[in-house]
Parts: sequence; structure tokens; C-alpha cells
Amino acid sequence: MDRILVEGGKALRGRIEIGGAKNAALPAMAASLLTDAPLVLDRVPDVVDVGTMRRLLQMLGVEVRHPPAAAHRLVLHCPEVLETTAPYDLVRRMRASVLVLGPLLARAGRARVSMPGGCAIGPRPIDLHLEGLARLGAEIRLEGGYVEATAPRGLRGAVIRLPKPSVGATENLMMAATLARGTTVIEEAAQEPEIEDLARCLVAMGARIAGAGTKRIEIEGTERLHGGEHRILPDRIETGTYAMAAAITGGELELVGTRLELLGAAAEVLQEAGVELVAEGDRLTARRSPRGLVGTDVMTRPFPGFATDLQAQFMALMCRAEGAAMITETIFENRFMHVPELMRMGARITVHGPTALVRGVPELTGAPVMATDLRASVSLVLAALAARGETEINRVYHLDRGYERLEQKLAAAGASIQRLP
Ligand code: UD1
Repeated sequence: MDRILVEGGKALRGRIEIGGAKNAALPAMAASLLTDAPLVLDRVPDVVDVGTMRRLLQMLGVEVRHPPAAAHRLVLHCPEVLETTAPYDLVRRMRASVLVLGPLLARAGRARVSMPGGCAIGPRPIDLHLEGLARLGAEIRLEGGYVEATAPRGLRGAVIRLPKPSVGATENLMMAATLARGTTVIEEAAQEPEIEDLARCLVAMGARIAGAGTKRIEIEGTERLHGGEHRILPDRIETGTYAMAAAITGGELELVGTRLELLGAAAEVLQEAGVELVAEGDRLTARRSPRGLVGTDVMTRPFPGFATDLQAQFMALMCRAEGAAMITETIFENRFMHVPELMRMGARITVHGPTALVRGVPELTGAPVMATDLRASVSLVLAALAARGETEINRVYHLDRGYERLEQKLAAAGASIQRLP
């Protein structure tokens, strides 16, 4: 298994290209199941999760082409759904595989998707996806670890009020509703930018959707969707991660191809914490403020609140701040696996239930560390970039799930970082 070695203490300087959002690309790829015409997606990041979704879709009957001349373009074409099962092996590897459930059910009238089970950041059930699909008329059974959903008479529009704003459930229901009879309203929908992006993709395919990006989404079903073209929005988590990399190393990075407003509340939190962010067109310059990093409290929230996917990176940043920061995780249980690893590097952190109290330290020191999820791993990379000495990060495959060419991007900005097989 690959490892990453970082020799810390180098201020990052230069430009980093921000890619398309993995979390927008995955549902948009699943949307290709909704039509028999080709869907062209641009700015699809080249990360392992995209590869996993591609394999799953191919099993279901989607032809996936990657035109050699266009590095981040995928052409997905599903003339006919050949298979309606998403097997355990793929769902276990990537929970977002569950996003094929709504589209399969809407197009083929049936879907069999393995229950995702537990993962490193908590139990993460899919009850909201299933309850919502049942409201649209699906019959749902659990059998042998699989969800078996059928819609023998097709789906029909309904009002669905989500008890909490789940991103995945909103996406699954929005996709299913595009081919349902009549109008669907999703209330208390998630408002993440990736949902608005998926809606744009579906509208390009002929769907009728209003309100995506707000709490109330209205979808008027149609009999058939056509093909379309869609460019995935920039990755806000990658943006926030590199902004913090600039600040934690005391350098300056120009982040190209992204937008400040995608960060939501994280933009203000980062600036308060001493990360200067200057937006100009599609560029964002990030640097440490002359007053240094300041301990800043934060609570993760659904968008536009502070993203749970930036929590681990922010914790690494706060390890080097002046004063203390109280970081509360409200979205996922058990999302503090990076804490003991950061402590091995000299961080002072106390965890009480969903809250971590981080006391800034004058120095972090390199150590061998390991992480168990995507964002936790990258938080260790940030800590390593700022640490004295060498850090060896194990289980790099987590990073590869969501960050394209991470070491190359950081190395080009002056980091001393290398991957060892
Ligand atoms: C998506 C993102 C993930 C991000 C998360 C929260 C993708 C591929 N992944 O995950 O990176 O961290 O949003 O912003 O886009 N819940 C239920 N029942 C359900 C569904 C969710 O109780 O049926 C709970 C979850 O356990 C969690 C909360 O709702 O506590 C939010 O989860 P959700 O928004 O669904 O996250 P994902 O879509 O899985």
C-alpha cells in the first residue's frame, strides 16, 4: 500500500488548479441511467471514487467513454438498463453507490442495492432515501443485506418532507422524481451547491426542476429525459483544503477555477481564524493573515453552514493557532479519528462527545500516522506540511478517493512531498 512522505516546514507558494467537485460528479454520473441518450460531463475529477462509480455504471449497462483529447470529460450512454443490482463489494467501498437507486427505479422500475452498512465515520443509514422513495410509490423490502425496490406501476409525484436535510437522499429523490408521474415537492431538502449542480445537469437533460439550492425543491415529472451536456462545479472542499494549506505553512496560494461563495460559512470562519481569502473572478488567493492564526470556534452544519468535510482540515489548522478552538461535529458521529493521529504529532486536543477542544501549540513534529477516511487523511497532510521533520502518512488510498494529484499539486507549490509504493 502506498505511503506519503512529507518533510514539513516549507511555505507553499504558487498556483493550484481546483478540479470539479467529486460530490457533484458522482450523482451527475448516476443521472446517466435516467436516459437512453448520451450525457456529456465536463470537469469530472480523476479520483478513485469516480472510477468506482464508472465501474458500477458499466455493470448496469452504461457505456462510459473518456475522450482522449479532453482530460476531464466523460461521455455516459445507457441505451438500455442491463442490470439493476449494485453489489455489496462496490457499495461497501463507496457509499455514494446508493445514488443509483433512484435513477434505476425511475427508469427500469426496479433496483437492488446493497445496504451500505457502517463506515469509518459512523453508521450513516439510508432510511431517508428509502422512506422518500416509498412516498413516490416504490415498494421496498430488505432481503439478504440488499434493498429491493420496485415500482411496478411506475413512480408518482408526492410531497416528501425530509426529517433532516440529507444530501444523498435529496439527490436520489430529485433524480427519481424527474421521471415520476406528476409533481414532487421535497421539503427541508439539503441546500448544498452540489444539489443545485445536479439540478442543472438534470435540467440540461430536459427535467423540470425549481428551487434546487433552497429548502424546497419542486420537480415536475416528465415521460422521458434526453441527453445533455454539463460542466461540474468546482470542488469547494478541495478549495478550502488548499486555502488552509497556504495558511498553515505561512505561504500564499492562488487557487484557480473556483469561487469563494461555494465555501458558505467556511469563508467567514477561515478569515476569522487568520486565513486571508481574496477573490478575483474565478481565482482565490489564500494566505496567512499578518496577525497569525487565531483559535476560532466552529460547529459543522448543513450548507451554508461550515462543511463537515472541512472539519478535520480546520482542526489541523487550529493546532497551530494562537489560543484555543472548540470544534463541534454535528453531522456525523465518530468523525474525530484524526484526533489521536494529530496528537502523535504534538497537538493538544481533548474530545468530549461531539466536541473537540484544540489548544494551539507552537510546533507540530513529524511522525508516522495513519488515517481511516478521506478528509482525516488530508488533515494529516496539512499538519505534516507545517510540522518540523518528516511525517509518513499511511493508507494513502483514502486520499486518492477524493483528491486528484494531491502530491503533484502540493509539490509544484514547493512542498517536499513524495509517494512511496
Ligand atoms: C454527503 C457527502 C459527504 C458529506 C455529507 C454531509 C457525497 C457523495 N457525500 O454524504 O462528503 O460529508 O454529504 O455534507 O456527496 N442520514 C440519515 N438517514 C439517511 C441519510 C442520512 O440519518 O437516510 C444522516 C447521516 O447519518 C448524517 C446526516 O443525515 O448524520 C447527513 O448525511 P447526508 O447529507 O445524507 O450525507 P451523504 O449524502 O451520505
